[in-house]
Amino acid sequence: MAKTALITGASGGIGGAIARRLNEMGYGLILMYGSNDTGISALTGSLAGHDNVEAIRCDFRDSRDIDSVSRNIAEKHKDIEVMIHAAGISRRELFHEMQPEDFEDLISVNIKPLYYITRSLIPQMIEKGTGDIISISSIWGSRAASMEVAYAMTKGALEQFTRGLAAELSHMGIRVNAIAPGGIDTEILSNLSISERDEFLSDIPFKRLGRPEEIADLVEFLLTKGRYMTGQVITMDGGYTL
Ligand SMILES: NC(=O)c1ccc[n+]([C@@H]2O[C@H](COP(=O)([O-])OP(=O)(O)OC[C@H]3O[C@@H](n4cnc5c(N)ncnc54)[C@H](OP(=O)(O)O)[C@@H]3O)[C@@H](O)[C@H]2O)c1
Repeated sequence: MAKTALITGASGGIGGAIARRLNEMGYGLILMYGSNDTGISALTGSLAGHDNVEAIRCDFRDSRDIDSVSRNIAEKHKDIEVMIHAAGISRRELFHEMQPEDFEDLISVNIKPLYYITRSLIPQMIEKGTGDIISISSIWGSRAASMEVAYAMTKGALEQFTRGLAAELSHMGIRVNAIAPGGIDTEILSNLSISERDEFLSDIPFKRLGRPEEIADLVEFLLTKGRYMTGQVITMDGGYTL
């Protein structure tokens, strides 16, 4: 039976690159996205074996929806071996000026899917004795980030989820890892002004943003050669945090 991977944020830059790579690797795909119907149609249209690809629109800001959608997916698909959480939003503003709705959105999109989706998939992974859960964190998950305090809170939580769940599940053959990117060239960076982007670029030793495909390279590594790794948060940032 073909292996299946579920990817959140599949309409985004990083999630889309991971989807293309896993499609090339022969995985069936469940592609979750928030609202970008055009982006997801373009992605699914470009993938080989369309009958093995299912797109599911689910706004993670509605937790009742995500709970029932997660349980339905787990009931329908018994062959999900890989779960990638690549959905995410960022907000750049002073912490005390952030409105509660924006804070709630950060928690809902960046963290809650890890609870609802992984809890629905873990039983089938335990039954099969194998599974990979990979989340996209950020360099701000473990470092101080002024103007991104709440975003960094969510990524720090994601990283502790990674270590804790790895400890809980590793003896059952389930690996839990995270990737902490620096600047990757996707839509999420559009919240930087041109001068902020230039300043950011000049601080990166490699003098360029990363490409989403480079994150997909790391996911491929974790699923193939890196099978003795669990509970790790791997930084990929062109030397920014050195
Ligand atoms: N790019 C970077 O420089 C960078 C650096 C560090 C970490 N990251 C992390 O990498 C991950 C992917 O980001 P990206 O760069 O690929 O950004 P992106 O291109 O903006 O993609 C974000 C994805 O999240 C989904 N999403 C947003 N709000 C949602 C909601 N309410 N419900 C469901 N899905 C929602 C989007 O779906 P729709 O558009 O369909 O709503 C989209 O698929 C994020 O967790 C981000 O924090 C990115």
